[in-house]
Amino acid sequence: MSILVTGGAGYIGSATVELLRQSGRDVVVLDNLVYGHKGALAPDVPLYEGDIGDSALITKIAREHSVSSCIHFAAYAYVGESVQKPLLYYRNNLASGLGLLEGLLEARVSNIVFSSTCATYGEPQRIPLDEEHPQSPINPYGASKWMFERVLKDTSAATDLKFVALRYFNASGAVSGEEGEGLRTIGEDHSPETHLIPLILDVALGKRQSIQVFGTDYPTPDGTAIRDYIHILDLGAAHLNALSYLENGGQSDFFNLGNGSGYSVKEVVEASRRITGHEIPVVNSPRRAGDPARLIADANKAKTVLGWNPQYPELDAILGSAWKWHSSHPDGYGD
Ligand SMILES: NC(=O)c1ccc[n+]([C@@H]2O[C@H](COP(=O)([O-])OP(=O)(O)OC[C@H]3O[C@@H](n4cnc5c(N)ncnc54)[C@H](O)[C@@H]3O)[C@@H](O)[C@H]2O)c1
Repeated sequence: MSILVTGGAGYIGSATVELLRQSGRDVVVLDNLVYGHKGALAPDVPLYEGDIGDSALITKIAREHSVSSCIHFAAYAYVGESVQKPLLYYRNNLASGLGLLEGLLEARVSNIVFSSTCATYGEPQRIPLDEEHPQSPINPYGASKWMFERVLKDTSAATDLKFVALRYFNASGAVSGEEGEGLRTIGEDHSPETHLIPLILDVALGKRQSIQVFGTDYPTPDGTAIRDYIHILDLGAAHLNALSYLENGGQSDFFNLGNGSGYSVKEVVEASRRITGHEIPVVNSPRRAGDPARLIADANKAKTVLGWNPQYPELDAILGSAWKWHSSHPDGYGD
């Protein structure tokens, strides 16, 4: 039996593929490589270059590889782009996802673990955010993920489908050897890059002149926005727990994944200066529309119900692993 990993050549997907293989699972990856990297996968991982919307291909892969469950990472995930091109996001993250579900159900694959996001909550009404917090996404990216959660819920009520939707906060860090011994090294190589940590590390590598800090007048101790950073190996581990949960008869459900403690942009810059030894010049800029002051997860449900136990919650471990990867892969995967 195999696990089908969509988007398995991407940042979080490829780290999860490594963990699945380490735990003895057979894996098959489907990725259209629009943002993924072949180099993120071991050469012996079966990789289908195709689209999740191709339900016939999904059924074929599921049958040929005796797929028992699917972990669904494939999506577009640029918030700003989603505002400019909403139809692209609804097409890829929502409509193509329907093809995936149709193909899976046709092949009688009934367990799916879905990459959702804290962006489904929208502007926080309280912190930390638990799963009962109202969902009111404020951009098409968050809305596309929220709508697909709804699709999963409705489909599971009408069919054998069972799902776990994992709402990640800020994915970060790398599989560097120290973190993730015995695993392939894996890091963040997005083009364009929009995430804070790789952008800061690009400054330390001399690839950018400075880091732009959006908003220094937030109601936070140092005036910059606070986010909950979660290591990709901890995210990956949660997917293995979610799979076991479904395989052992767990009910369809939604879980947050974060560390429950946040770091401000200034704290991330200062820790990066310490770890890289680079001065990392900062340019202060006005707040961006739609950026809340704080986003912090209450992930107690994942800990209690899924038995999830994050191993790398410290900012230094996250930054240290990312720096190790970026400094040894200045051109990313080089493709
Ligand atoms: N990175 C984060 O902080 C974060 C936070 C919350 C949720 N998520 C979600 O986690 C998932 C993975 O994120 P990531 O950072 O690894 O992104 P990524 O872009 O590195 O990986 C996504 C992969 O999916 C592939 N893909 C996209 N559309 C596809 C399609 N239609 N068919 C086949 N393959 C397709 C891309 O080529 C890429 O390899 C996404 O669903 C994202 O929305 C990410």
